[in-house]
Amino acid sequence: MAVNDSKLTSLDVMRDAPVIPVIVLHDVAHAVPLARALVAGGIRMLEVTLRTPQALACMEAIAREVPEAVAGAGTIRTVADAKASLSAGAKFGVSPGYTSAVGNACRELGLPLLPGVATGSEIMMAQEDGYTELKFFPAVQAGGLAMLKAWQGPFGDVRFCPTGGISLANAADFLALSNVACVGGSWIVPTDAIQAGDWARITQLAREATQLAR
Ligand code: 3PG
Repeated sequence: MAVNDSKLTSLDVMRDAPVIPVIVLHDVAHAVPLARALVAGGIRMLEVTLRTPQALACMEAIAREVPEAVAGAGTIRTVADAKASLSAGAKFGVSPGYTSAVGNACRELGLPLLPGVATGSEIMMAQEDGYTELKFFPAVQAGGLAMLKAWQGPFGDVRFCPTGGISLANAADFLALSNVACVGGSWIVPTDAIQAGDWARITQLAREATQLAR
């Protein structure tokens, strides 16, 4: 599927691959080789979390030097986070929870957002603001497969990206659910592999993840 940045939607972000990697980068020098390694393994939608002081610079580097990748910002918690991410070249945002302030700001900014939810009330708030593609976070800790199955009735129009506690061992179970479009996870971008510059291992992990059936 070709991705046209100007029309990118959160559904495009979810549908591009079975897994969205949740990336934590401490060194800007790692950003470009990591993005290239993931792209080589078939993963283009990259969530760079705003958990380190280097995160925005990493997004800028990927946006500038790896045009095949689509770098988004994770851990968006405030309107300021959303604005800074957009300025750094983020093409989408992911939040660990939901507020209308963040949801409405992202819409006004034109930044596709995957809002995080963990309860029915949060789903209803996000839906009131027009969001039907949501991140379920933290997925395993907050009820996992059973929770997603329970939501299929009242929230049958919502598509989820469960994130938190997902690995190659359980990803297929989540992806088999009709209300799951993709999963998120850090297992394909292990800290030790990034620190060691073991890009071949990350390409291999990405390749395995793209083989997961949906
Ligand atoms: C996170 O918050 O770090 C993400 O949800 C990823 O969780 P994971 O490390 O369990 O994949």
